[in-house]
Amino acid sequence: MERYSVAIITLSDKGSKGERVDLSMPSIKEELDNYPFDVVKYELIPDDFDLIVKVLNDCVNENINLVLTTGGTGFSVRDVTPEATKKVIEKEANGIVEAMRFNSMKFTNRAMLSRAVCGIKNNTVILNLPGSPKACKENLEYVIEPLIHGIMTLIGSSSECGRK
Ligand code: MTE
Repeated sequence: MERYSVAIITLSDKGSKGERVDLSMPSIKEELDNYPFDVVKYELIPDDFDLIVKVLNDCVNENINLVLTTGGTGFSVRDVTPEATKKVIEKEANGIVEAMRFNSMKFTNRAMLSRAVCGIKNNTVILNLPGSPKACKENLEYVIEPLIHGIMTLIGSSSECGRK
């Protein structure tokens, strides 16, 4: 079975200064382990717009299939992950984040506060996840199967949606 490369990028001012342990990356990794993914890159960086853009562009240039960011999608002044992602992507994939927010409303109505975006540049899909480990699992497990199909379509290993 074909395997896909993944980068996990954690955005956290406190985490990057060593003031908070990053529990979101292990939460994402645990979910990914059920699927044909290899985590090839992990970065824990502050909520800095230019740095996020640079790291995301590096992932695109390295041809990584999927980039999962966690954190920085809310309303605080330092939350700029969606804006940095929009700067990098060429195409939006709104359905994935619409589905995440829709499903997450059954856990908390604060799901609507996540401004997460998803999109494509070259051969890479970038998806924002909220910051909490629980939110990462709740969001990722809901979208991961269609997301894999999207990646397969993007890189040309599947050309049909499988429904007649
Ligand atoms: N989605 C799910 N599934 N579960 C959650 O606990 N938390 C929400 C939301 N999405 C949450 C969720 C909250 S409280 C916020 S503020 C936003 O995600 C943004 O989180 P972030 O700023 O850490 O990215």
